[in-house]
Amino acid sequence: NIEKTEAVMTAAPVIPVLIVEDPAKAVPMAEALVRGGLPAIEITLRTPRALEAIRLVAENVEGAIPGAGTVLNEEQYEAALAAGSQFIVSPGATPALLDVADKHDVPLLPGAATASEVMYLLERGYSRLKFFPAEQAGGASYLKSLSSPLAGAKFCPTGGVTLDKAPDYLKLQNVLCVGGSWIADAKAIASDDWAGIEERARAAATLRG
Ligand code: 3PG
Repeated sequence: NIEKTEAVMTAAPVIPVLIVEDPAKAVPMAEALVRGGLPAIEITLRTPRALEAIRLVAENVEGAIPGAGTVLNEEQYEAALAAGSQFIVSPGATPALLDVADKHDVPLLPGAATASEVMYLLERGYSRLKFFPAEQAGGASYLKSLSSPLAGAKFCPTGGVTLDKAPDYLKLQNVLCVGGSWIADAKAIASDDWAGIEERARAAATLRG
């Protein structure tokens, strides 16, 4: 479902990647991100209470498009959907994960970092992908090199992306958005820095000018 996936990827130039320890922080955090202009937010399933955080955002934050990140298997996929995730992100892809995704209408952004991984995902019908780990795998120049041979694939580069590096990706033909944790890192969330999160969201939201 390319339209649905692209709606998530083009809601804003940046998808904030979030590690939320305390679900009580999730609502004010998401509200700050939405106010700053970043509606699509990826809450990673790396903390014990991440699903609770997703549910709270889904139920309470108007305008937010909550998604689940770091979804590695069928069990996590189903739990993320049950919590109200409107999109799913994975650092990679396995046949089993894609089989689950095929059963649902909720967009999956599977991760890929090589030509073969991209080709496999295209074969499986997935052309809107996460490029991970973006900076470490070769950065914007590497991704640019994939755009001519693998023209059908469009990416959300994530991993080591910052406000300064984002424009190099966003100008590529095969990039729809970028992801990153710089807008709301663990420290900002733990210290209730909602004003700072909103300010960084605003800067990210206007990256395309
Ligand atoms: C991740 O999965 O942790 C994301 O890629 C975020 O990476 P970053 O912290 O380097 O932005």
